[in-house]
Amino acid sequence: MLNPTSIATRTDHEGLHVPAELDASLRARQAWISPKFLYDPLGSKLFEAICELPEYYPTRTEAAIFAAHGAEIAQTVGPGCTLIDLGAGNCAKAASLFPLLRPAQYVPIDISAEFLQDAVGRLQQRFRHIEMQALGMDLSGPLTLPDSVRASRRLFFYPGSSIGNFNPDEARDFLQRVHAQCGQDGGILIGIDLAKDHKVLDAAYDDALGVTAAFNLNVLNHVNRLLGADFDIRGWRHRGFYNADERRVEMHLEAKSAQLVTWRGGSRRFAQGEWIHTENSHKYRQSDAVGLLEQSGFAASRVWTDPDGWFAVIHARALSH
Ligand code: AVI
Repeated sequence: MLNPTSIATRTDHEGLHVPAELDASLRARQAWISPKFLYDPLGSKLFEAICELPEYYPTRTEAAIFAAHGAEIAQTVGPGCTLIDLGAGNCAKAASLFPLLRPAQYVPIDISAEFLQDAVGRLQQRFRHIEMQALGMDLSGPLTLPDSVRASRRLFFYPGSSIGNFNPDEARDFLQRVHAQCGQDGGILIGIDLAKDHKVLDAAYDDALGVTAAFNLNVLNHVNRLLGADFDIRGWRHRGFYNADERRVEMHLEAKSAQLVTWRGGSRRFAQGEWIHTENSHKYRQSDAVGLLEQSGFAASRVWTDPDGWFAVIHARALSH
């Protein structure tokens, strides 16, 4: 067991050239900001609030699947795994499964290292018998785990349909990188949001309270800090809607009026109505989700869904290399 105060973390955005990356994406013909920048400490809290919204069905639907099929999922996985929680956030989802999955080691990974460290510190007090090691890491970069992470029976836990925030090619690359880290008898337990009526999706990403709008707009605050930029939040409007052709929800920020934005080493004039693309959230058909795992080196998928078929929880074993 690790003492919570000695939890090892790697620094947020370590090894990345964040200013160069943001500078390039803001100068692109179609300006964009990587969705990973949505998760500063406030963004992480806003995302927690989104998960409580009546319109945002994925979190509670996934939880209902675990509640209904937990015993079967636990039996499929088996006790004593090393649970590697990808994009752990406040660690609440994984923690709720500890009694069911009974992991020997818990390794939460998140880009928001500060937020993660606090959460794991509290969790370690509650589950003293589980060895814990928090890693602050950008999942869009290389996925290399330190030697302190046990090499066998690794179960990568990737809930909440975070896989949907990659485009399908990136998703395959990412899952292949996960597969490469599975070691002996490894596998993945993943939550994937399924395609459905656009009205449900539009409401989920443009809620009545405006929490998703705040979450999206807050990315500009984060960019202001990271890049010394002078985005005025009040000059931008949230857009979130389902694009049926691409089978994905898109989030954008729309300039309310023409404006000049400057940052360290750059500037750009945005026309009134111009958009900055901030996130895609791809929705899969069940067969495509299983196909994606198979193309990434996994097999023997077991799929559990809710009665409406809105969301899927899938367990798949890693084929050996
Ligand atoms: C984290 N991710 C799976 C969420 C999603 O649904 O794509 C992020 C989110 N964006 C807006 N609302 C929630």
